[in-house]
Amino acid sequence: MNDPGAFVEEAVRRLRDEVPGRTIVAASGGIDSTVAALLAHRALGDRAKAIFVDTGLLRAGEVELVSGFFRASHLPFTVVPAADAFFEALDGVSDPEEKRRRIGTTFIRVFESEADKFGGDQLVQGTIAPDWIESGGSLRDTIKTHHNVGGIPKDMRLTLVEPLRDLYKDEVRAVARHLGVPDSDRQPFPGPGLAVRVSGPISRERVERLRVANAIVEEEVDRAVAAHEIARPWQYFAVLLPVRTVGVLGDNRVHGEAVSVRIVESIDAMTATAMAVPRPVLSRISERITRALSGQVVRVLYDVTDKPPATIEWE
Ligand code: XMP
Repeated sequence: MNDPGAFVEEAVRRLRDEVPGRTIVAASGGIDSTVAALLAHRALGDRAKAIFVDTGLLRAGEVELVSGFFRASHLPFTVVPAADAFFEALDGVSDPEEKRRRIGTTFIRVFESEADKFGGDQLVQGTIAPDWIESGGSLRDTIKTHHNVGGIPKDMRLTLVEPLRDLYKDEVRAVARHLGVPDSDRQPFPGPGLAVRVSGPISRERVERLRVANAIVEEEVDRAVAAHEIARPWQYFAVLLPVRTVGVLGDNRVHGEAVSVRIVESIDAMTATAMAVPRPVLSRISERITRALSGQVVRVLYDVTDKPPATIEWE
């Protein structure tokens, strides 16, 4: 794709052909689904409605942030509170692929119910090329099952419409800038949310612990960027590890969990470099996390591994 303007025109024309009636749009607030939602809105007007699912696996403040952004973009949307359904589906699940499949199925059940209410049988989603390439298939190895590809149940009642299927992330960002999406270069956030960053069994408590730690990483990195201590990284987040480790609380020995901090530079997420973050920034992050989660998280690690050999996300 060389010309975002021409891409938008062609995508709008195709969406009008492909969607004769009403459709819902899976909108997570991320750049891919936001572009898909804006294209659908441009092509279909009020015949398209964006559905933002509050999975209970979102970052601190995300529902408010995304809602505000959709409002500013004049996108018709509904926020569906569905945390109970997601936690029930994920209760105690540790296997990353199983997590992704269960998340994918739960999303689709929510979308089916919302499509019934809206009176449509199609689902527009912002699947991009790496999603289906990495999810594998008859000839390809599965690198990871993207919830919006391999996580879709076989008995789904909706027909998928995927206007961004052939694009890569940098191309989607070019289209986003063309469409005037604010903050088109913001950090990516995986569709399965904090579930892929809670290593080991999922529970509401462990997700909440990670949410607190993650907000601190984001705040401290944003502050360091504003103070010109570091350049804006590609992604920066916390991961909750499945280990028990010893710490000291007052005069007592406690067993808590450990958090790993991941801050990487990248162009397209295909490769990445662990950022050389100044020690004072890391110390602030560590102090704040262990204070905010006193006795629960007793150790903070910094991940210095590049991609390859590691991936950006932990699981
Ligand atoms: P990895 O971990 O493979 O990630 O180096 C590459 C990029 O993809 C994002 N990512 C995901 N995005 N659903 C998504 O929508 C997912 O399941 C998923 N897993 C990884 C990751 O954050 C990074 O930007």
